[in-house]
Amino acid sequence: MCTSVLISASGRNRPLQATGNHSTRKARLAILLSGRGSNMVALVQAVQHGVLSGLAEVAVVFSNKPDAPGLETAAALGCLTASLSSQGRKRAEFDAEVVELLRQYQPDYVVLAGYMRILSPTFIRAFAGRILNIHPADTHQHQGLHAYEWAFENQLPETKITVHLVDEGLDTGPILAQHPVDLQGAGTLAEVEQRGLAVEHFLYADTLARLIRGELPRRTPETAGTAVVSVHTPEPLLPSATGSSPHGEAAGG
Ligand code: GRF
Repeated sequence: MCTSVLISASGRNRPLQATGNHSTRKARLAILLSGRGSNMVALVQAVQHGVLSGLAEVAVVFSNKPDAPGLETAAALGCLTASLSSQGRKRAEFDAEVVELLRQYQPDYVVLAGYMRILSPTFIRAFAGRILNIHPADTHQHQGLHAYEWAFENQLPETKITVHLVDEGLDTGPILAQHPVDLQGAGTLAEVEQRGLAVEHFLYADTLARLIRGELPRRTPETAGTAVVSVHTPEPLLPSATGSSPHGEAAGG
């Protein structure tokens, strides 16, 4: 099932111009998820009364799984939601439909928050340089699924949450921000994940806020290489909204 709403002229047609530290309108976010959506919750809360307030608005929360718990949570938070089932669909064909759907919401940024799909070039090119992902490890050290399991099984004393732009590789896009997570003494995978998610929840919103304010150098996946743009240590923004479902990872980057 797909729910879609056409937006008015107040949307993305107007330029998102930086004037000093301010832009003329709020950046429109399309948040994509496939599961519980704890990062989506943190982002929506940041938009409603946190670091993204006045800077961004949630244009839509989209899922490739119509029954994703995160969709219901998003609706309860007052967000427009949309879904298209990816089950049994060919990647490029499905992504072309998602691109068409998302374009109706005129997003400035596509924010992957546990979106369990590898994105096709069709999708990446449609929103080139404007797709963000959060990865529960340093993407130079670990790519793909199960990053918390990897950290736990290898008894790492620390992992690094990474926010990066998405390019056509798997977790190879330019890094926008990283923040360490102390894993010493974490005796279970659940503890590792809980500590990591607490960092994810403030880092994603904080990084987006700095990107929108123009505080991060402008980079595109094509030109950026993989250098870390900045490492920031903000105070946690919100109480973490962790869920108990298994860890999911945005396969798109
Ligand atoms: C997070 O660990 C995120 O880093 C990864 O997928 C997970 C999504 O969790 N990409 P949630 O759905 O946001 O709770």
